[in-house]
Amino acid sequence: MTAVLAAPAPYDVDAVRADFPVLSREVNGRPLVYLDNASSSHKPRQVLDAERAFVEQHYSNVHRGVHTLSQEATDAYEAARSTVAAFIGAPDAREVVFTKNVTEAINLVAYSLGNAAAGSRFHLGAGDEIVVTEMEHHSNLVPWQMLCERTGATLKWFPLTDDGRLELRDDVITERTKLVAFAHQSNLLGTVNPVEELVRRARAVGALVLVDAAQSVPHMPVSVAELGVDFLCFTGHKLLGPSGVGVLWGRRELLDAMPPFMGGGSMIEVVAMGGSTYAPAPERFEAGTPVISQAVALAAACDYLSRVGLDRIARHELALTARLLEGLRTVDGVRIIGPDTTQMRGAAVSFTVEGVHPHDVGQSLDDLGIAVRVGHHCAAPVCKRYGVPATARASSYLYNTAGEIDALVEGLGQVKAFWSA
Ligand code: ALA
Repeated sequence: MTAVLAAPAPYDVDAVRADFPVLSREVNGRPLVYLDNASSSHKPRQVLDAERAFVEQHYSNVHRGVHTLSQEATDAYEAARSTVAAFIGAPDAREVVFTKNVTEAINLVAYSLGNAAAGSRFHLGAGDEIVVTEMEHHSNLVPWQMLCERTGATLKWFPLTDDGRLELRDDVITERTKLVAFAHQSNLLGTVNPVEELVRRARAVGALVLVDAAQSVPHMPVSVAELGVDFLCFTGHKLLGPSGVGVLWGRRELLDAMPPFMGGGSMIEVVAMGGSTYAPAPERFEAGTPVISQAVALAAACDYLSRVGLDRIARHELALTARLLEGLRTVDGVRIIGPDTTQMRGAAVSFTVEGVHPHDVGQSLDDLGIAVRVGHHCAAPVCKRYGVPATARASSYLYNTAGEIDALVEGLGQVKAFWSA
């Protein structure tokens, strides 16, 4: 018998948009065109409803009570952990630690390594090296600078090429490298980095690998099992979920062996006045009352994205990015900061407009109802590398349309004409 395969349904952006209440509002008398998703995304009704239902019917503190609500809340919180683990292809839900955001997740690893006793496999000292890249968000740069200050280790980095890629010099990762930390996708340039190659180089010298996936996990299928890294972080508010919840995924064997970051309730086994012993991961790294309803809502966001399909979302964004790159080339005086093709790049597109300060670009676009981010995007060294004080950045997501990209390009033409007059 011949199997009849149904053709995949076309991507229905209107159906997606209908789930997001905010997208029907106006800004300055114009329909909102929200292109600031790399900073923070919006929430569909399904996520808002899931959080509301949990808070209205099941909320209590977790891991602390025998009463019914406490048990239900604990079950929902741990179910959220399992959903998040499955979403990123993690083999074990206990490898998922809930944090406040990516910044806290990275600081967690940095402080834990800094707390490692001399002689421990995690100990860092003079002569050891940590490797990052010149395109990192401050959250994946400053914690490592601080760790180097505390331990005497040295920070090194891969520099950037003129077209916004990593220059993969051979002398950056060496026998002294203990950790390699890099963005999967740059928040300013949009560049998608070659994880496989960086992991290969790190493994060759026995270094740990941490990936800042804040800009990739919301936009493309990501599997920690396939990437073969040691740690991966992402955050809820860029992924249709709430702010105040982030995720550190780490290999269980590492998390169980690493020293704690913060001390307090729930992260302990036995506490006496003379000292304490610590719970295994993930509790070891979740001191105090955790982010409960936010974790439940994050799981609902993961479910929503899985239903739409990350591969389909990635294809939709790629088409929007191609349209935007092409459109930007038609506007006089626009310079793209970052890769100007869709190859190995995501939907965050930074640009400058000759003769117009990026903040004025952002303000003038807002007058037209178009939201983009302006500034150094918490990646100041990238702006310095390309000789600009700041950029404007448009970043699309699953609910943006080709018409919105055209509105941005047309708006930029108006902005350029206004400021040149
Ligand atoms: N990291 C966020 C951004 O790139 C806030 O805008």
